[in-house]
Amino acid sequence: MKHFISVDQLPVKDIYNVLRRAEYYRLKDFKLNHQLFVANLFFEPSTRTKMSFIVAQRKLGLESLDFHSESSSVLKGESLYDTAKTFEAIGANMLVIRHELDDWFDQLKGKLSIPIINAGAGKAEHPTQCMLDLLTIYQEYGTFLEVKVAIVGDIKHSRVARSNAQALQKLGAEVYLCAAPGFEDEELGMPYIPIDKAAEICDVMMLLRIQHERHVHQAETSNYLNLYGLTKEREQKMKDNAIIMHPAPINRGVEIDTELVECSRSRIFKQMANGVYIRMAIIMELLEEWGIINENNFKERKAFATVK
Ligand code: NCD
Repeated sequence: MKHFISVDQLPVKDIYNVLRRAEYYRLKDFKLNHQLFVANLFFEPSTRTKMSFIVAQRKLGLESLDFHSESSSVLKGESLYDTAKTFEAIGANMLVIRHELDDWFDQLKGKLSIPIINAGAGKAEHPTQCMLDLLTIYQEYGTFLEVKVAIVGDIKHSRVARSNAQALQKLGAEVYLCAAPGFEDEELGMPYIPIDKAAEICDVMMLLRIQHERHVHQAETSNYLNLYGLTKEREQKMKDNAIIMHPAPINRGVEIDTELVECSRSRIFKQMANGVYIRMAIIMELLEEWGIINENNFKERKAFATVK
């Protein structure tokens, strides 16, 4: 992979390579001895994704270049393209980009000589979140085959839903969707089931936030938890080993009962921890692919493989 833009572009083999490498970094420290710069260009708010990219970069010994669009030349009308070209010119070896446009990558495709990682594209794709979610599910079940996953919430406006639904289906999981009226996206072509049924049959309940910032009209949320969210009553119907996931930020009491956020089934904070290792793995895959580094500890990584 030349750039890490979409899970759709990734062959199954490459997905497993990233998971395997992330597990290696989880179990063993690894640091590069080169001075390399990674620019983190976030044009939309971010806590977890941006900070876990920075932790990943620092663990790898890379220099993180921070950027705040609200105090940058974006305010003077500078485009995404010119911003990216600027970072390339001053010596960034890689760009990590989050932007509100679904297709922002089209503005940069073929025009830069450094690798790019998608840290969130509008409502279209969030491939690094997807990879950390895959790692969390794999750590739990040791396979994706026939694992039943319900993606629950604002499917229509969620990039996390889109990336995860496609990747999980490709890996052999059974994907179900649950959404309030108006939050469905028929284009995904996956079955919708009521949340009560999902809670009973699924191994993973993946909750999503209502994406208010992507709505034209403000959604009504006063009875949302009871009607469409994960309540304690629904959690009690879940299978013994079933888990709860959420990419966060969480709106406690809206899509999930606040007490469930930190309950024993919750893997929400584990997802965040896995985000660091996944992002280390993706950064390293691209730096190697571009010949920017030659890591050469393939054998040692193989010996550590916990992902088959
Ligand atoms: C998600 C995102 O930005 O798409 N957050 C994240 O990266 N962990 C989910 C969301 O904002 O609801």
